[in-house]
Amino acid sequence: MKTEVARTMTGLGLTDADVALVRTRSALLADRLDRLVDDFYVHLLAGPAAERLAGIDVERLRRAQKEHWRRLFADGIDDDYVRRVTRIGIVHRERRIDPPIYMQGYGWIAARLAADLAGDADLDAAERGPLVAAVLRLVMLDMSTALLAWQASLID
Ligand code: HEM
Repeated sequence: MKTEVARTMTGLGLTDADVALVRTRSALLADRLDRLVDDFYVHLLAGPAAERLAGIDVERLRRAQKEHWRRLFADGIDDDYVRRVTRIGIVHRERRIDPPIYMQGYGWIAARLAADLAGDADLDAAERGPLVAAVLRLVMLDMSTALLAWQASLID
């Protein structure tokens, strides 16, 4: 899986400089993600994916997802990250969150993050473009790696 993560970084053009840039803004990102993730679950519960959340403690999910993004943006990519994202991919397969629904979730998060950061008054105009690009590459890394774990769990 670690080799795959390195390959995915190359494929996305995600660099160590991107990871370092995101880390410098990890506190701001954690703050913005608080509201964003809350809105994500409002969105999920109002749409066709809601049936997959029946009987689930959504408050626990909200906290888990916030913590996931907070740690990725603050700590970057290490062995612990690879373990976490692998587990998350497997949990979604076990919960029958199929790839289309799962990937649509990533799409919603990525689009909303880009829109929020593009209009964020606490960021310098010159900083916004590179930061949005770096954050989106990290979100796509997460999506790709979680999907790989989802697929790999098919042959467990
Ligand atoms: C945007 C991409 C998503 C991320 C980053 C994400 C993140 C997470 C995390 C961190 C967990 C906790 C895993 C654990 O227990 O270790 C989780 C569990 C779960 N997620 Fe997601 N999720 C995403 C999309 C979705 C979507 C679209 C659904 C569809 C309804 C969904 C439904 C669930 C369910 C049912 C669980 C298991 C909850 C439980 O066992 O109590 N997730 N997710």
